[in-house]
Amino acid sequence: MEIPVLDWSRFATGSDVDGFVQDLGKASRDTGFFLVSNHGIPEDLVKDVFAKGDAFFALPMAEKAKIDIRGNPHNRGWACQGSEALDETSGQMDRKEAFNVGFDLPSDDPRVLAGEPFRGVNVWPDVPGFRETMLDYYDAVLHLSVALHRAFEMDLNLPEGYFPPHFTEPMATLRVLSYPAAPDGDGIGAGAHTDYGSVTLLMTDGVGGLQVRPRGGDWIDVPHVPGAYVVNIGDCLMRWSNDIYVSTPHRVLPPKTARRSIAFFLDPNPDSVIAALPGTGEAKYPAVTGADYLRSRLDATYTPKDIT
Ligand code: OGA
Ligand code: NI
Repeated sequence: MEIPVLDWSRFATGSDVDGFVQDLGKASRDTGFFLVSNHGIPEDLVKDVFAKGDAFFALPMAEKAKIDIRGNPHNRGWACQGSEALDETSGQMDRKEAFNVGFDLPSDDPRVLAGEPFRGVNVWPDVPGFRETMLDYYDAVLHLSVALHRAFEMDLNLPEGYFPPHFTEPMATLRVLSYPAAPDGDGIGAGAHTDYGSVTLLMTDGVGGLQVRPRGGDWIDVPHVPGAYVVNIGDCLMRWSNDIYVSTPHRVLPPKTARRSIAFFLDPNPDSVIAALPGTGEAKYPAVTGADYLRSRLDATYTPKDIT
């Protein structure tokens, strides 16, 4: 099992659309993990997200605690070290800390006022330029991840334009992550888990630790290709594709030196109905809304269980 590097420009420029789709389809069925190079997201924007994340994590605890995710009903804000266990069966809390940004809506949006699930305002730390950088990046990576679904459409023989209506105002989450150095190798950076959404686009700073466990196989290291995204299929797309695509467990070992990453989880619109895609055979799962599905997955991860 290997994790291939797929050159997005083959698809985006039209130079080798069929070849790209074929490679993407194979990776999505085999390991559900691949790297995407030449994706067009500016390097400077990525650098800026890392820098703003660093500035946030360096704030005093009391400052970060003002925007604690545990007090937020919409999965936004700061998750402190030791507050999550991505592997809920391990009895071990993750060492990472994180900051979540959700789909940005103004405070007077009717859905925000009505308290609809996942329709909240973002919370922001007092770090100059943080909000602007995060929202710029969120838009860029949302665009790329939805564009990737055009290639999934082709691979799955779906009509062009099948997916975009499901991602117009999605429950996408941008998450900056910080893993403290663990020279003794104790604990776990992020416990073994699968991601919940459709796809995840992950950028790391190059410090190792990310591993994947393909079905029937052992843990393997995810290679680092500077500038490329690590992309993986999430549980929602696996379910949607009626298990044609696979969502694969992965984890982050405690890194010897401090490690940072930027994850972008694309989940569908809250009211999107996730039912077996046309042409994928008899449905293995009942239809579920995007919001109900994501809530059920988040509930298992957080302590206390207060996410709606
Ligand atoms: C995650 C995840 C990997 C990383 O947050 O779901 O798998 O490298 N992160 O931070
Ligand atoms: Ni993950």
